[in-house]
Amino acid sequence: NEDWIAAIAADEVPEDDVTAVEVAGKDIAFYKTEGRYYATDNLCTHGHARLCDGFLYGHEIECPLHQGRFDIRDGRPLCAPVSAPIKAYAVKVENGQVLVNLA
Ligand code: FES
Repeated sequence: NEDWIAAIAADEVPEDDVTAVEVAGKDIAFYKTEGRYYATDNLCTHGHARLCDGFLYGHEIECPLHQGRFDIRDGRPLCAPVSAPIKAYAVKVENGQVLVNLA
């Protein structure tokens, strides 16, 4: 349906790592781990840090500023100092493009 937006080429998302692009005016982080793609808001809910500058450990993204962690599958906060979730978005790959649903 029309809610899917082509955001980034699949081969531009690094394996076991994170990158970010602007999608429909929003800063969105894209991850690939174990061959699957994930997308979340790129801004940490604790401060003004971009998660794409952090480190990905499996399904956990660690914020570069104070080392809070979120689960990239559902955005839930995993450890202090983060307590509010980030939004996680549905993604799919079609024709070499990663599509994200921001709805
Ligand atoms: Fe992310 Fe503080 S800004 S943990």
